[in-house]
Amino acid sequence: MTVKIGYIIGSLSSTSMNRAAFEAVKKNAPAGVEFSEIAISELPFYSQDAEVEFPAVAQGFKDAIEASDALVVVTPTFNNSLPGALKNALDWSSRPWGNNSFAGKPVAVASASPSGHAGAPAANHVADVLGFGEAKVLETQFNLTVSESTFTAEGDFAEDETKARAAEFVAAIAANAQV
Ligand SMILES: Cc1cc2nc3c(=O)[nH]c(=O)nc-3n(C[C@H](O)[C@H](O)[C@H](O)COP(=O)(O)O)c2cc1C
Repeated sequence: MTVKIGYIIGSLSSTSMNRAAFEAVKKNAPAGVEFSEIAISELPFYSQDAEVEFPAVAQGFKDAIEASDALVVVTPTFNNSLPGALKNALDWSSRPWGNNSFAGKPVAVASASPSGHAGAPAANHVADVLGFGEAKVLETQFNLTVSESTFTAEGDFAEDETKARAAEFVAAIAANAQV
C-alpha cells in the first residue's frame, strides 16, 4: 500500500534551501511513499472579507491537505519564526472556523536554515500552530543546518548521516500515516 504524503514548502524563493532540503529528503525516502506538493504561492492574504466567498484556490488547498494520508510542513526561519506566507497558508487551512483541514492529521515538521539551530525555533512555532488546530504533530522533526557542503551536485545530501536521518524521518511519518 502506498502512503500519500502531502508536503508544504513554506518558502516562496526560487532558490529556497528548504525546497532543496526537502527534495533531498525525498531522494532518501523508503519505498512505499508517494509525495505531492501542496502549493501556497497562489493563496491570497487571509481576511474575513476574503472568506465570505471562500476562494477556490483556498478550498483546493484544504482539499489537498484532507486527501493526504500524512503531511510535512517545511519551514524557513524568518526572524526566529515561520514566514508570513506560511502562516497565511496555515490560517487558510484553519477556516471556516471549526473546519481545520489539519485536525486529526499526522503532520511532521521540517526546517532548514544557515544557522546552527537548524531552524528548530521556527519548526517549533509551526508545531504549535498545527497542534492548536488539533493536528497529530509528530515529535520527530527534520532540522538541517545548511552550508556550502550540505548538498552534492546532484541535489542529494553529501553526508551519509543526513541521508540516514532523512530516511528515518520519512519512515516515522509513514508509520503514523492514516492510509
Ligand atoms: C526576513 C528574513 C528574516 C530572517 N531571519 C532569520 C533568522 O532569524 N534566523 C536565521 O537563522 N535566518 C534568518 N533568515 C535567513 C533565512 O534562514 C535564509 O534566507 C533562508 O535561505 C530562508 O529559507 P529559504 O531559502 O528556504 O527561503 C532570514 C531571512 C529573511 C529574508
